[in-house]
Amino acid sequence: MAEDRNRVSRRDVLRGAGAAAFLGSIAPALQAQAKAKVAKGIARGGPGAVEVGFTINGERRKLSIEPRVTLLDALRDRLELTGTKRVCDRGSCGACTVWVDGKTCNACMMLAIDAQGAVVTTIEGLANGDRLHPIQDAFIREDALQCGFCTPGMIMSCAALHERKLRENMDSSAAPYRLSLEEVKEAISGNLCRCGTYTHIFSACLGVGR
Ligand code: FES
Ligand code: FES
Repeated sequence: MAEDRNRVSRRDVLRGAGAAAFLGSIAPALQAQAKAKVAKGIARGGPGAVEVGFTINGERRKLSIEPRVTLLDALRDRLELTGTKRVCDRGSCGACTVWVDGKTCNACMMLAIDAQGAVVTTIEGLANGDRLHPIQDAFIREDALQCGFCTPGMIMSCAALHERKLRENMDSSAAPYRLSLEEVKEAISGNLCRCGTYTHIFSACLGVGR
């Protein structure tokens, strides 16, 4: 699929940026990738604004953005979806976790042009109308947040795990699924909580689905 070919993974960026990415901002590496895409004609136009269309939280949106703009910046600065947090801006904390075509993704590590045609879900799109996602309810019930900066990303990672389990459960028509602590730890292994709320997050995630 063309969108997949164009998508920048964290590994691609780190490979391209080398050790320098760990020492400074990741932004130059993403900008270099954007320039390369423009040069190869993958991103038409540029370095000025180009048209990008995607589905955000069930709504088709079109933006005119420069190829260097990350998905995180497009969400926060252009679409006013500020629930997705910018903390490290270099792929190491998970605060900016969103779903792209159903898979978790660090929005600070993806160019918005690579989301062309994708279905993006942010924390604002997780609830079903007034009904919170079960993971959101569980975070409230278990008091699984302190400052809240990591919380949207944590919830997106935990909810992705639950959605996957639900799908597997439907496929196998097995009994209600149970998560193991190891599965929860793996699901949030890319999300950091500086307040150390992990035990409450584990309880919230483990308590859903039983
Ligand atoms: S802000 Fe994206 S991983 Fe930290
Ligand atoms: S609740 Fe403060 S960083 Fe997690």
